[in-house]
Amino acid sequence: MSTATALSSLPVSTESAGQLDPASVQFKAFDVPGSRTVHGKAFPLALALEDNTSPSLSDVNAHIKQLADRGTIRDLLTQHGVILFRGLPIETPKDLSSFVDSFNFVRPHKEVGLSGKRTTVVDNIKTASEMPSNAIFHFHNEYARSAHFPELIFFWSELVPQQGGQTPLLSSLELYDRVKQELPELHDQLIFKGIIGRQYYPSKEDPDWKEIGWNWKDSYGFEIEDGDSLEVQHQKVEAVLEKYLQATGEWQSNGSLHVLQHVPAIRRVKSTGVPTFFNGLAGTYGSAKLNGALEPPYRIKNGKGYKLPTSFGDGSRIPSEWLDRLIEIQEAIQFLVPWQRGDVALVNNYTVQVIGHPPHLCIC
Ligand SMILES: [Fe+2]
Repeated sequence: MSTATALSSLPVSTESAGQLDPASVQFKAFDVPGSRTVHGKAFPLALALEDNTSPSLSDVNAHIKQLADRGTIRDLLTQHGVILFRGLPIETPKDLSSFVDSFNFVRPHKEVGLSGKRTTVVDNIKTASEMPSNAIFHFHNEYARSAHFPELIFFWSELVPQQGGQTPLLSSLELYDRVKQELPELHDQLIFKGIIGRQYYPSKEDPDWKEIGWNWKDSYGFEIEDGDSLEVQHQKVEAVLEKYLQATGEWQSNGSLHVLQHVPAIRRVKSTGVPTFFNGLAGTYGSAKLNGALEPPYRIKNGKGYKLPTSFGDGSRIPSEWLDRLIEIQEAIQFLVPWQRGDVALVNNYTVQVIGHPPHLCIC
């Protein structure tokens, strides 16, 4: 099905959207190389400003606000998973922030258990990742490892690389279909048992934490006050784990923390009832494999820290051959975002997995 057909019933263009839109703002769907069709809809939906129109950012924002108020944006996100906006007059993080605000997705998501470093640039806009640019990531839904995950993510790249730098995305709905068909035993066990994810957080006193990228105090210790004893710090971290994530912590003899999170690996999207492969288990496995950390004690071979395995929810091991096949399927169905200046990708985290991130994001 072409993108245009997929859009036929939706008032994306101002031509069909009534008299109230700023006259200079019109989006049209366009074909983007490598896009896929998932459940009859284009993945992603690519929308560009009409040729020969150079609307101001405030006009674009007013138009987006109207589409959002009518429910059009949410409809499109439900149907397509990703909206790639092209040609927007966004030059700075401040511009991006005002564009994000126009969607009226009220609540900024409180990130609990950040594994990595993100810095707020302006308002609701953060750096996406400050890991080295050669760090290898794997497909995941954002925070699917925990019970506290965001719904929406905006991605933007201030500087567009001359080559490379494309962001891989895939549809979790398509991934679910493929897993059910090609790895039925994995599918069934994930449905029945869920998964237990485990993460290693060194203490802030451990000099290795900087190379690892995170520590338990920064990731979970936001209720710790100066002068708290180690015992009180532990209690406060455990309370955060329980309150936000329904997760448990296991303190280790070297002062580090293992966080255990028992979550479903497959969920249903509430509004549609459609199953989605919502987890990061392939990434946990792939990263451990690349780092020579697949066997106990799961220590990273030429680096610091540990890559603890994700198991089925009853603690049993997930066979490597299933996880290797899962990664192959992910690579086969991925879409690479061909970033251009002025692009913003709005991602439905419930139905989309991503690898790495362009430099800026907003999590809602
Ligand atoms: Fe991520």
